[in-house]
Amino acid sequence: MWSNSIGKAFVVTCFGESHGPVVGVTIDGCPAGLPLSTDDIQRYLDLRIPQEKEVVSARREPDIVEIFSGIFQNHTTGAPITLHIRNKDVKSADYEPMKDIVRPGHADYPAKVKFGGFSDYRGGGRLSGRMTAAFVAAGAIAQKLLSTFGVDVLAYTSSIASVAMHRVPELDIVRKMTLENSMRCPDPVIAEKMRQVVLRAKSEGDSVGGVVECITQNLPVGVGEPIFDSIDSELAKILFGIPAVKGVEFGAGFQSTRLRGSENNDQYVINDGKIMTLTNNSGGVLGGMSTGMPLLVRVAFKPPSSIAKEQKTVNVSEMEETELGVKGRHDPCVVPKAVPVVQGMVAISLADLMIRGGMIPRILKS
Ligand SMILES: Cc1cc2nc3c(=O)[nH]c(=O)nc-3n(C[C@H](O)[C@H](O)[C@H](O)COP(=O)(O)O)c2cc1C
Repeated sequence: MWSNSIGKAFVVTCFGESHGPVVGVTIDGCPAGLPLSTDDIQRYLDLRIPQEKEVVSARREPDIVEIFSGIFQNHTTGAPITLHIRNKDVKSADYEPMKDIVRPGHADYPAKVKFGGFSDYRGGGRLSGRMTAAFVAAGAIAQKLLSTFGVDVLAYTSSIASVAMHRVPELDIVRKMTLENSMRCPDPVIAEKMRQVVLRAKSEGDSVGGVVECITQNLPVGVGEPIFDSIDSELAKILFGIPAVKGVEFGAGFQSTRLRGSENNDQYVINDGKIMTLTNNSGGVLGGMSTGMPLLVRVAFKPPSSIAKEQKTVNVSEMEETELGVKGRHDPCVVPKAVPVVQGMVAISLADLMIRGGMIPRILKS
């Protein structure tokens, strides 16, 4: 009943629960000959938790990755790669009072019904933001693989609640500034405003949502398999696998419905002998294939559901209406933590499509 694997050539299978011993992934189909160490993965995991602790859940784990297979003499062998991240800071007692009281906005109710009451409810079980540590680990390998072909994936926070960056930033600024603040926003002035919004929501026992923007540079033309495994449908599928994602758009996205064809069309020009477009309203995708322009995808995250404010809900075993204010340790906004997750998920999907398209070979020659 669960669906735990994604990809056809670079197949990522995830496992584990929020309060179990580990979360992890197995990657089947990573080409042989990729130089890979734990450090290559660890540096992305270290980015998942922003430096300022007040803006994220009080759950603290070092998130150390352990490689169990698929690497020999510091290179991938072509065999499945299994990665574990131990859960070390687990407080399951926080969830005992809520065993039968379903959190409004979380997955507790449908999971309880679908799995006959057997699903692990502690910390959201398998449907927890904690699973994203495993996604980041798999994404790190995909990014290392893509980087050997010059493909660079970069994500950052573009809005939190109503505080937004109004244009796509220069990529050099994104590289330099995104990790400098706990909001993961490349504009420090806007980042501070976002931070205030998050702290205010938290102090009021509430939460806020926002948008992560992700740009991929140097993607060759023609990545994506029309019709049903188009680059946009594959990315949408993997990105909707991230908990709390409520929307995915490419380029001008929903805004393009307000443009005329003459405004929305990206006109072709030749620049330094290369075919390019003057604008990038398509977000680098046409007909489900990459155009060679930067791939631009935006991912909308809802405000996380576990809030201290009391809300109406139901005790499902007593069949009684009640009220719940969620105690425990929760993120007042998931967006900063989601930045490396989006980056990793986009990389996983692109690695899969590039292997399928023959743009990445099965054996990498050094
Ligand atoms: C990085 C990350 C951290 C999250 N942390 C929390 C959290 O602390 N509390 C919470 O209620 N939801 C959190 N979520 C969101 C829930 O896991 C998610 O809302 C829930 O599984 C229901 O799924 P849905 O929102 O996609 O419908 C987090 C999501 C992500 C991506």
